[in-house]
Amino acid sequence: MLGLYPQNFKFSKFGFAKISPEMGNKRDFFKKLSFKKNKDLLVKDKKDAGALKVKKENLQKNYNLYADLLLRYGYIKIAEELVKDKIYPYVVMHIINDKNTKELIWHRDQYFHGKDFIGPKFKLYKLAIYFQDTNKNNGVTGFIPKFISPRFKNRYIDTIFAYLSSFLSIHPRLSIGEAVIFSGKVMHHRPRQKTNNFREVIIFSCTNNPNNLPNLKNNKNEFLNIFIKSKIDNGIK
Ligand SMILES: [Fe+2]
Repeated sequence: MLGLYPQNFKFSKFGFAKISPEMGNKRDFFKKLSFKKNKDLLVKDKKDAGALKVKKENLQKNYNLYADLLLRYGYIKIAEELVKDKIYPYVVMHIINDKNTKELIWHRDQYFHGKDFIGPKFKLYKLAIYFQDTNKNNGVTGFIPKFISPRFKNRYIDTIFAYLSSFLSIHPRLSIGEAVIFSGKVMHHRPRQKTNNFREVIIFSCTNNPNNLPNLKNNKNEFLNIFIKSKIDNGIK
């Protein structure tokens, strides 16, 4: 069922917003969806600072569950209220840190480097749902205030500036089932795992219109289409 939304959800000056749907059976739900006990179904991603990712074939088996989670508990509804636009998740990553996972350094998913725009050429949001209570010690996504984070059109200077101002960064404290949403243009990082309470998270890349992704749109096996179908099945506009 759709949760209730007693809070006023809004974006902070750090460029992210927290999403806290009401869920009755969180622990069981996320335990069932967890891959922590299925390490053989994970692959280490060197490009993601050694985080462990659920292999594509297993990920695909869960597409319906992920779509249901997003729609039934109101993550999408709240996210759409926040961004005042439509939200279409088109890629899912299911990620676990372990003790060997390093910091994922400060970066933006979309930025200018000189004249080149790097990253997706359309509106991009990341929506991350955490499987356990998560904070700076177990890899919550951290953010730098937007006002001290001007976008240099040089990725290297931009990154150095992020480290120089990172003492002002914020790392939200999230409870199981809570999510954050942020724009691809926002400076963010994943701190190194410091406790044994390993971070598990599903991160959705989202955009505001399925037409932004003509290749995915026409493939019924893609998450984008599973999501759209699930929306119709649940009678959600
Ligand atoms: Fe990122």
